[in-house]
Amino acid sequence: MKILVINGPNLNMLHLRTTEHYGNKSYEQLVKLLKTWGRKKEVEVEVFQSNHEGEIIDRIHRLDYDALVINPGAFTHYSYAIRDALELVDKPKIEVHLSNIHSREDFRKVSITAQTCEGVISGFKEYSYILALEYIVEKYGSGERMP
Ligand code: DQA
Repeated sequence: MKILVINGPNLNMLHLRTTEHYGNKSYEQLVKLLKTWGRKKEVEVEVFQSNHEGEIIDRIHRLDYDALVINPGAFTHYSYAIRDALELVDKPKIEVHLSNIHSREDFRKVSITAQTCEGVISGFKEYSYILALEYIVEKYGSGERMP
């Protein structure tokens, strides 16, 4: 099973963002955590990051994965284009956020992209990703229940 993790804009700069919202891991540490988790569970985890909407859409379109975990960053709140790309993917998809988007500014409370995902995990810092990965492997790992 291959799970693709997509991270949107500014997540590569985690070391400069507020620890209150985003935790204290750098982006490199976050990637390492996800890769280490994958090796332990014998699941291939690819992590892709881009600050560009079109690159994120192109990566979604490649469809070379069995499941998707996506943190669209600020695109969450306004990208109809990423939303439409996600809608084309007939595979398990989970949206994740490091911060609790519901406890922050009003503009963050709306997710345009979440409507296309099975669920959203928000507010658990780096554990949001681990929870999403665990869920995908638990529910779809055997391949039997893959849609
Ligand atoms: C974020 C939340 C977004 O509102 C913000 O723009 C981000 C990160 C999160 O992981 O908490 O860049 O997606």
